Amino acid sequence: MKVLKNISLKPYNSFGIDVLANTFAPISSISDLKQILLENRENKKLILGGGSNMLLTQDFDGLIIKIDLKGIQVIDENNDWVYVEVQAGENWHEFVLWCLNKNYGGLENLSLIPGNVGTAPIQNIGAYGVELKDNFISCEALDISTLKLNTFTLKDCQFGYRSSIFKNEGKGKYIITSVIFKLSKNDHKLHIDYGAITSELEKMQITTPTIQDVSKAVISIRQQKLPDPKLIGNSGSFFKNPIITKSHYETLLKNFSTMPSYPVSDTEVKVPAGWLIEQAGFKGKRFGNYGVHKNQALVLVNYGGAKGSDILELATLIQKTIKKLFNVSIEPEVNIL
Ligand code: EPU
Repeated sequence: MKVLKNISLKPYNSFGIDVLANTFAPISSISDLKQILLENRENKKLILGGGSNMLLTQDFDGLIIKIDLKGIQVIDENNDWVYVEVQAGENWHEFVLWCLNKNYGGLENLSLIPGNVGTAPIQNIGAYGVELKDNFISCEALDISTLKLNTFTLKDCQFGYRSSIFKNEGKGKYIITSVIFKLSKNDHKLHIDYGAITSELEKMQITTPTIQDVSKAVISIRQQKLPDPKLIGNSGSFFKNPIITKSHYETLLKNFSTMPSYPVSDTEVKVPAGWLIEQAGFKGKRFGNYGVHKNQALVLVNYGGAKGSDILELATLIQKTIKKLFNVSIEPEVNIL
């Protein structure tokens, strides 16, 4: 097991923020994971996956455990379904491509989402009408205090919109080590009703799409709207879409008649934070080396060399402005450290 000292975390976070970690240990086996946890019971720790959902605002004065567990394995199958077990350190998009290559369906709408397989359940990643939970069977997670592996079924995970037990009661208590997905082998159920996908497929002149076509459409939409973290530092959607009461929404419609909404329950709707931020005039605004993306106002970007604290200040300004204009609170989707 390698343990590194005073290293820059710039290559390990998709925002590209240059802060230092006191100690950094890449971990590629469960036994090494147990050992390092045992040796560092009292020390401050951070579990790192793909680093695609965090904003680092300061140096990390503790131990970073980088989960590098690898492997993809079919564990059960019949004529219609396959169960695939994936280790936490596998890159999410590469795993989606692996599925498409084998013609396993279910994850195609989640193409090109940054990050690793092991962190995907924490926030129940979702895009274009599909969420991770739709194909999820279970995950294994190491209990940090007992060092025992536990199985979390779909029900145990308590998945919600960008949320799970690992963001709530289980926060800081577990390390997800592998995930099992159930995928279709034929008669794939396509999710193409999401507006942008339908029009992208039309543009591609595809009338009877395959799962591979859906993936291509999603990749194309994402590339048009979302900045590539390899070129411009970012963490995808910085905020969650807020859920407000229907009566609040109806009041807002009087002044903002084009405000979109999605049904949530009989009494609540979800409104796109990107729309609110655009109306507030922030879309495409650049403040030196950081700003708000020009094609999707929900994405804050680091053009190079920005400090996490600058981006956090911008996020706070956006929150305050949205509150003042619409009386709506928007909460960050990314973890701020
Ligand atoms: N909109 C604007 N201006 C903007 C951005 C969006 O007016 O700058 C409007 C759009 O016109 C549309 C609505 O807001 O009417 C929704 O926009 P979009 O379809 O782009 O989706 P989103 O709600 O902004 C969510 C997810 C994305 C996911 C897309 C597609 C959250 C926080 N974000 O964004 O997820 O890719 O839907 O399903 O739920 C991520 O989590 O990192 C992420 C990128």
